[in-house]
Amino acid sequence: MPFAKRMGHTVGSAWKILAPAKLNLYLEVLGRRADGFHDLETLMVPVRIYDELTYTPHPDDGLELRVQSSDPGGHRPNLLGTDAENLVLRAARLLANEAGVQAHGRFDLIKRIPIQAGMGGGSSDAAAALVLANEAWQLGFTRQRLMELGAQLGSDVPFFLGTGSAICRGRGELVEPVEGMLRLNFVIAKPPAGLSTPEVFSRLAELRDDASSTYRHNANDLVTSLRRGAIADAGRQMSNRLESAARTLAPWLDQLRDLFSRARCVGHLMTGSGSAYVGVMRSARQARQAAGWLKNMHSKVGMNVGHVFATSSC
Ligand code: C5P
Repeated sequence: MPFAKRMGHTVGSAWKILAPAKLNLYLEVLGRRADGFHDLETLMVPVRIYDELTYTPHPDDGLELRVQSSDPGGHRPNLLGTDAENLVLRAARLLANEAGVQAHGRFDLIKRIPIQAGMGGGSSDAAAALVLANEAWQLGFTRQRLMELGAQLGSDVPFFLGTGSAICRGRGELVEPVEGMLRLNFVIAKPPAGLSTPEVFSRLAELRDDASSTYRHNANDLVTSLRRGAIADAGRQMSNRLESAARTLAPWLDQLRDLFSRARCVGHLMTGSGSAYVGVMRSARQARQAAGWLKNMHSKVGMNVGHVFATSSC
C-alpha cells in the first residue's frame, strides 16, 4: 500500500491499517532546547516492516487494547505492552477528547516492528490509531490537524501521518516531504538489548563539550544524491549524531559497526536512538546475502547480533 494513500479500510465491521517502521539515514543534533528536547535535522524513510492495527466498534463505551507480538526479536513483553498501550490508547483518548466524544471500541495490535530499536514502532502505532479512530468515529479531522495532535504524543508521530520520506526538523515534528528518491534496500540487525531514547539524548549532553563538530554534509545533500541515484555518494553522506552517545551505553555497537563495515554496504549507521543498526545495499539480493552473512558471523565472532533481516524503503 503506498504510504501516501494510507487509510484504514473496513474488514467486516472493523477498520484495519498497516503501520510502517522508519529508518533515519541522516540525523544531526543542532542543539538542546529550553524545553529539554533537542533540535534536529533528520532524513527519515518509511520501510516495509509493519505493525498491524485493527479497530472494532464495541457495544459498550469502554476503550480496550490487545497486543500480540510477532516481533521475531521480541523480548520483554511487559515493556512492549506498556509502550504500545500508552501510545495507541493515548492517541485514541486524545482524539476523542479533542472532538468531545466518548472514546470507545477495541484496538488489536500485532507488533512486528522491533521495539527500542530506533525504528519508530510506537510512534507509527500512535499515528495509525489517530487515523483509524478519526475514520471509525467519523470525526473529519484533517491530516494537518492529526499531525498537530500527533506531535503531542511523540516527536516522530507527525512523520507517520505524512506522505512518505521526509526531512524532519524542530524536535522532529516539522515534516518536509521529499520525493523522487531511489528505492533503497537495507540489511538491519536488531541486537537483543534495546536503547532508551531519553537515555541516549542525555548521554549526548555529556559528550557535547568535546563533540561540537558538525558534519560536512546535511540532509539536503543526501536527498540530492538519492534523487540522482548516486548511491556511493549517499553512503558517504549518511551519519547519525546519536551513534557516539549510544556507544557509551552500548559498547557492543562498536563490534556491530565493524561487522557491517565488512558486509559490502554502501553505507551503514545506527537508526534514530538505536539500537538497530542499518546497512544500505545496492540491491535486494545483496541485502538478503548480507543478512545471511551477518547471521553466519554471529557464531564466528561470538557476538549475538540479534534479529537480522533485509527490507526496503516503501
Ligand atoms: O518525543 P518523544 O516522546 O519521542 O521523546 C522521548 C524523549 O527523547 C524526550 O523526552 C527527550 O528526552 C528525548 N528527545 C529529545 N529531543 C528530541 C526528541 C526526543 O531530547 N528531538
